[in-house]
Amino acid sequence: GEGSLWGGRFASGPSAELAALSRSTHFDWALAPYDIAGSHAHARALAAAGYLSADEERAMHEGLDELLRRVTDGSLTARPEDEDVHGALEAALIDIVGAELGGRLRAGRSRNDQIATLVRLYLLDHAAVIRSLVVDLIDAIVAQASAHEDAVMPGRTHLQHAQPILLAHHLLAHAWPLARTLERLRDWRGRASWSPYGSGALAGSSLGLDPALVAAELGLRGPSENSIDATSSRDVVAEFAFVLAQLGIDLSRFAEEIILWNTREFGFVTLDDAFSTGSSIMPQKKNPDIAELARGKAGRLIGNLTGLLATLKALPLAYNRDLQEDKEPVFDSVTTIEVLLPAFTGMVATLRFDTDRMAALAPEGFSLATDVADWLVRQRVPFREAHEISGALVAFCESNGLDLHEPTDEQYLAISPHLTPEVRDVLSVSGSVASRSGIGGTAPDRVAEQRTHLVARVRDL
Ligand code: ARG
Repeated sequence: GEGSLWGGRFASGPSAELAALSRSTHFDWALAPYDIAGSHAHARALAAAGYLSADEERAMHEGLDELLRRVTDGSLTARPEDEDVHGALEAALIDIVGAELGGRLRAGRSRNDQIATLVRLYLLDHAAVIRSLVVDLIDAIVAQASAHEDAVMPGRTHLQHAQPILLAHHLLAHAWPLARTLERLRDWRGRASWSPYGSGALAGSSLGLDPALVAAELGLRGPSENSIDATSSRDVVAEFAFVLAQLGIDLSRFAEEIILWNTREFGFVTLDDAFSTGSSIMPQKKNPDIAELARGKAGRLIGNLTGLLATLKALPLAYNRDLQEDKEPVFDSVTTIEVLLPAFTGMVATLRFDTDRMAALAPEGFSLATDVADWLVRQRVPFREAHEISGALVAFCESNGLDLHEPTDEQYLAISPHLTPEVRDVLSVSGSVASRSGIGGTAPDRVAEQRTHLVARVRDL
């Protein structure tokens, strides 16, 4: 039909029902700038192989520049009869440069190799945006860690008081997974930066076009080695969706703690007014909506990944139209993360910690019991026995309403002859924290060191 890409063999255009199902312009229009970049590169390859004269190539580039202007200023949008961004842009190019020249551009390429290339270009650009947003969040965490170098808090396992730790150590524990996100993005980039352009529909091009030239024009490492794989695989798309899903999970873990810390019962943090919300009915409320939305959006990011994987499962080679379903989930993941990260970073950067309260709670719940056991081991008591003695001390203190340092010397000795009064030296939070001075431990010097290492690591990513 009119403006369609396959008029020749067909007596009629697509039914309205088919067109409604088939249409992808409402989401693949996001690829328009990449489609045009691909066309510039393809025009060069056509000219290099003698299919466009120098004048034609110049006119083609000018037409494509005008096309990009119209897309960018919004004067060109998809028409209802356009199936996808590729057809829409070809029709619009023909409006600009005429059917004679505009009709030459499609030689030696297919929407199958186009789309496989364009989705990579889109993701590579957004990977750079997301990278810098993740760096901003790491910076905010590092700044909070630096501002609270000596503050202590109750460290938990099973959400129960376990051992005292530095607040900075805990905060940095949320930054390291983010650094691994940056590593994943870098590693992914190496696999994603190959160009399917030139693979044609599936079997390659017969026109002697140079796919290496196209790849270089697009800033990619080189052409894909197998045209069937290039047009039909979407593992790099799924992998990107995984990286964002894992990032969402990492944010949701931090979010969950901020939600807990912000409760009256914990009372560890106060949220800045600009990064919290009120209630329409309860005037006293100050809600951690950013953290809750982060937690909620993790579910959405996981859903996008699993939906995409389900689409890809058991697809036969080569291109199948199912593959059109790759874009909405991964685009949604990109948009979700790009909106979420700046808000999350603002929330973290403006968190105010009640370090007095955290310090007061740090020794509670007999969190220094391990220090008693470790002290006994340093007196050469076997750990198994040390654990028993320390446990007996906890039981004694619990039933007598005492803290671990509060029994008399006689009461200590009655629990075990190994339990001499010197044990009180390790029964302070600062002593406990300082003693955990092995690599990766919570001693202040070690935490300062890991912060330096993290910053150096991130600088190279
Ligand atoms: N809209 C399609 C997609 O997203 C573009 C490729 C269409 N190719 C085709 N032979 N219908 O995958």
